[in-house]
Amino acid sequence: MRVVIQDNYEKMSLWAADYIAKKINAHNNGPEAGRPFVLGLPTGSSPIGVYKELARRNQAGELSFANVVTFNMDEYLGLPHEHDQSYWYFMHDNFFDHLVDMKPENINILNGMTDDPEEECRKYEEKIASYGGIDLFMGGIGVDGHLAFNEPYTSLTSRTGVRNLTTDTRIVNSRFFGNDPEKVPSQALSVGIGTVTDSKEVLVLISGHNKARALAATVEGGVSQKWTCSALQMHNGAIIACDEEACGELMVDTYKYFLDIERGERL
Ligand code: GLP
Repeated sequence: MRVVIQDNYEKMSLWAADYIAKKINAHNNGPEAGRPFVLGLPTGSSPIGVYKELARRNQAGELSFANVVTFNMDEYLGLPHEHDQSYWYFMHDNFFDHLVDMKPENINILNGMTDDPEEECRKYEEKIASYGGIDLFMGGIGVDGHLAFNEPYTSLTSRTGVRNLTTDTRIVNSRFFGNDPEKVPSQALSVGIGTVTDSKEVLVLISGHNKARALAATVEGGVSQKWTCSALQMHNGAIIACDEEACGELMVDTYKYFLDIERGERL
């Protein structure tokens, strides 16, 4: 696992956007350019800086999304697209609407209004597989370490399915629902931990004091379904991009190790 520690949220976002842009450009100029680059995407406050920078590069003509297919991690069950807290709305508002060459038919987001959630999830897995899997899955994590909506004790081999949200998560996410946890949907559709770890690479953004315990669990804890983010330790291409604030619960040795090993240039 790589852990890339940046001074603050802005630098973390620029680093992650640069990494993603380099991967897309390398793909489009490489031997596999004939097939699309498949990118997994999250919602939340963590990726907003990355989305801004990727859109800026796209508008400046430095990065094309014409050959990119995206799959989002999750969606609230029962929220229509036009609801301003649906993840469909978030993704268009914060990212897709700002890209000049993203093809709408290449955007995949689980449909939270489906009348057959099981079938919706099965088809999603099938569609990911039809592209040969995901090249790079960007993610964020919750304060309890949930990756997508895979709350503590979700199987580390789980696939896309319906998830019940914990009261804690509904309280945390209530900041977007007028501070009323009851207004936060109690269920969501979410890719599984197995869906994420099947990706060739996983890049997870972790920033702020409130994620410090989750970062320590991701990097230093044992692999356990209690912290579903810890599954990344079993992945051969996992990168954590984090800021200083999130490092508060790391051991000094761990912190120094990653600063040391990441000093040089690498991709
Ligand atoms: C939600 C999403 C997760 C996201 C998490 C963290 O619960 N389902 O995919 O990673 O929030 O959000 P934030 O980045 O706002 O802290």
